[in-house]
Amino acid sequence: MPQNHPTAPRGAGLAPRSIFLEGRFGRMFRNLAPFEPDPASLTTLAGQMPEPPDPGTEGGAEDEGLDGPIPAGYTYLGQFIDHDITFDPVSSLQRLNDPEGLINFRTPRFDLDSLYGDGPNNNPFMYDQTVDGGKTSFLLGQNEKGERDLPRVGSPPSLAQGRALIGDPRNDENVIVGQLHLLFLTFHNKVVETIRAEQPVLSEDILFEEAQRWVRWHYQWAVVHDFLGRIVGQDVIDDILSDDQYAVLGGKASVKRIHLQFYRWQCQPFMPVEFSVAAYRFGHSMIRPDYRLNNGTPEIPIFTSGELREEHQDLRGFRPLASDWTIDWSRFFEIGDNSSLQRARKIDTQLAAPLSDVPATNEPHRLAERNLLRGRALKLPSGQRVSRAMGIEPLSDDQLALTAISDEFLGSAPLWFYVLKEAEIQTGGASLGPVGGRIVAEVLLGMLKGDPFSYINIEPNWEPFLGQNPQDFTMGDLVAFTLGQGTQEDPPQPGGCQQPAGSKGD
Ligand code: HEM
Repeated sequence: MPQNHPTAPRGAGLAPRSIFLEGRFGRMFRNLAPFEPDPASLTTLAGQMPEPPDPGTEGGAEDEGLDGPIPAGYTYLGQFIDHDITFDPVSSLQRLNDPEGLINFRTPRFDLDSLYGDGPNNNPFMYDQTVDGGKTSFLLGQNEKGERDLPRVGSPPSLAQGRALIGDPRNDENVIVGQLHLLFLTFHNKVVETIRAEQPVLSEDILFEEAQRWVRWHYQWAVVHDFLGRIVGQDVIDDILSDDQYAVLGGKASVKRIHLQFYRWQCQPFMPVEFSVAAYRFGHSMIRPDYRLNNGTPEIPIFTSGELREEHQDLRGFRPLASDWTIDWSRFFEIGDNSSLQRARKIDTQLAAPLSDVPATNEPHRLAERNLLRGRALKLPSGQRVSRAMGIEPLSDDQLALTAISDEFLGSAPLWFYVLKEAEIQTGGASLGPVGGRIVAEVLLGMLKGDPFSYINIEPNWEPFLGQNPQDFTMGDLVAFTLGQGTQEDPPQPGGCQQPAGSKGD
């Protein structure tokens, strides 16, 4: 979408090969030759990737072959994580002066910078002031109907106005990722309340820092054990994140450590293009064409073509939450009896029909084509080369079934397509396959390893303690802890919700 990625991220075009030049972006497999087929072949391939249009009603027979086992909320948790790790807070002037992203870049981490921005002192507009002047909680907003929404600027004169006042505006790109951002804001506020009740004497600064640490570590835990567990499988995680034993007086002790095979850096972690331009774009294949947000809504398309003309037309964001669209999270994560849970699409080479025409400002509008051309522009190696570099027998030409498009695909497939095909063939679309899964797991766990403040570096054996099943903290637990037994947030009390300056009601 245009607003989602207005410009290529700083440094994305360079991705240095030399180990002496490390910027925001880099390469996991620096020595592999690029695969640069004719762009026309990539366009033809992208044209073969849409799933059949409107496969029928939710849960109906026609959806069955297309849905995988992963609940639909994890698709958008995946998008939220992407925004977190590609967050670039430098000013636009600095960005222009440093297109390669070699200086003053923020190390990619999943530490919720997209939520906290630069903190209450530098981004005070995002925080709610307490009576004694402290800023420990996030400011929340509400829509015209009084339903909880992201805090937004101004009173919206048109559907296109009302931009969210949040750390990373990309998290307002669609209604689901927007409400997920709101869920995390509310989670932080609930943690603040919990700590304040337990330790009323804490200063506001310490209270904020403590709450931020609880939130970050629980989020990191859920990303590793809940999200990643579903996407790459527990065996891969256990291989990378394992117990290291050592001798101590009178016996043995052990700590959790992260062991990486392919994702290595000299000074600090960088964003590997094999991950950001190929493997981690697996999430595009999990997007459903439409979603039911709660018991009262019909299936709403993720996008429709052309301008947004009507409030309830589709799920695109960058506008106030449409009335009656508060998400019931039991439709997106496992909470309770799962009877109304929607599933993400399988991880395979078919993309939901609306993704053939994403409302982007520049061509191409087909998301698959953008991904394939971006991979070529960034000189990614073929999936087969990466597979061999990882010691994994590559898929055959017959399995990839691409040579009918062009001879260029003999023995070589674009890495993004390869990762999807591998998932389709080897797991039936239930999770990523060996190449894609290992890349995604190494990069996310590597970022945890490279973050000096992650739980793994400060308290390696730390375990979550919030929610009903603390040692097995999932997104379902996060929702239940944050919103109580109900999965839909209580409406704000009259007069109880502060709006940003200049908004309606001021
Ligand atoms: C409705 C949901 C989504 C839309 C409309 C969307 C759209 C886009 C677009 C237009 C791009 C830029 C493509 C280019 O020109 O290179 C992009 C990049 C990307 N997307 Fe998505 N995407 C969505 C969800 C996801 C999900 C669920 C994931 C992963 C789980 C994901 C991962 C990425 C990554 C890694 C990039 C490149 C890095 C970046 O610039 O942020 N996206 N997406």
